[in-house]
Amino acid sequence: MGSGPYACGMWTDPKKYWEALTAATADRPAPCAVVEAGAWAHNRGELVRRVADARSDAGMTGSLPIRVASKSIRVRGLVESLLRRDGFAGVLAFTLAEANWLADHGVDDVVVGYPTADAAAISRLCADERRASAITLMVDAVEQLDLIDAVLPAARRPELRVALEVDVSYNLPGMRVGVYRSPVRAAQDARELAEKVAARQGFRLVGLMAYEAQLAGVGDVPSGSFIEQARTRAIQVLQSRSRPQVAEIRGEAVAQVREIAELEFVNGGGTGSIESTAQDESVTEIAAGSGLFGPGLFDHYRAFLPAPAAAFALDVVRKPTPDMATLLGGGWIASGPPSSSRLPVLTWPPGLGYVDEEMAGEVQTPLTGAEDLRVGDRVWLRHAKAGELAERVNHLTVVDAESVAVIAELPTYRGEGHAFL
Ligand SMILES: Cc1ncc(COP(=O)(O)O)c(C=O)c1O
Repeated sequence: MGSGPYACGMWTDPKKYWEALTAATADRPAPCAVVEAGAWAHNRGELVRRVADARSDAGMTGSLPIRVASKSIRVRGLVESLLRRDGFAGVLAFTLAEANWLADHGVDDVVVGYPTADAAAISRLCADERRASAITLMVDAVEQLDLIDAVLPAARRPELRVALEVDVSYNLPGMRVGVYRSPVRAAQDARELAEKVAARQGFRLVGLMAYEAQLAGVGDVPSGSFIEQARTRAIQVLQSRSRPQVAEIRGEAVAQVREIAELEFVNGGGTGSIESTAQDESVTEIAAGSGLFGPGLFDHYRAFLPAPAAAFALDVVRKPTPDMATLLGGGWIASGPPSSSRLPVLTWPPGLGYVDEEMAGEVQTPLTGAEDLRVGDRVWLRHAKAGELAERVNHLTVVDAESVAVIAELPTYRGEGHAFL
């Protein structure tokens, strides 16, 4: 097996690590968002190692490339740096406008992971053969093809690459475990949709995606309140039942669709499901992104523990009581069902807590357990989700904790003037 969670690296000594980040960025104004080079490199290596180990554990030959889930990064420089590395190939983009933009910057393999209804972006895609040959659109219904044809009919545009999305959520009577995405579930439905795409002028079916969100995006380490812990134990049971079913549904759908079209790729998984997705015979590539920054929600998986590569520092600006400190800002709450898991993780110094009535505030965040903090000190927080951090700042400061130095400033999508979602 490989190096395992938190195997080595400065983050294993949190005092040294966070104090090095504080010292390296002391001259930059808060909020200061960083990515630490050693932790990033470790996380990058871990994603590739996990794929390889899962394959060899199952006696499977050959590895699978990781398609970079850009929504979980949203920094073009980082996405491009991954594409230069062994083990990574292609981008899973989150909007067509983003995909056009990445293709214009030379990324030659971009799958848009979600259907689009953006007429302007469809026109841009069709206006350039290079974009059309680099980008694959996601569909799960004929209506999405109709919408594209209404923007530009097949005769007036290049052939467009299309992938089908298949639902692999886990359904029990009266209960759905997973996310609502594609209505296409049964292999027969996938085949029928594939036949419709294949019969349509102006589209070429090249891929299939089936994303097991209930495995990839839901942590299985019990934490939080008693009720939350009980919920996680129930999730563990549901996840273990869902795993073989995902492989079965995806495998059957792929077999059916392959009779209709030559698929270039079958995409599955995410950071949280690499072990099982890599062992699915029908999958040719795994999408992953969150495991690179290692955000708060990814602290709770039994199979792996990413290094805390991305974080942001805020200033202490006042002391409402001697044992409290107030940060300027802080309310960078993650998307999804509102719960404490969506709050930024108070990371350094240790022992800090939110005030129940205020939590992470819009412009100020009072913290308990802060008797040692003074006005002007810095507190490190980690966003619960990976890519959303980049929507809050114009650049990420790349820091090398070992040498206590800033090594680069990388613009985020927002810093390059883009708010794709
Ligand atoms: C289609 C798809 N694949 C993969 C992922 C996994 O990304 P990550 O590794 O960031 O969890 C996501 C995240 O939502 C997704 O929507």
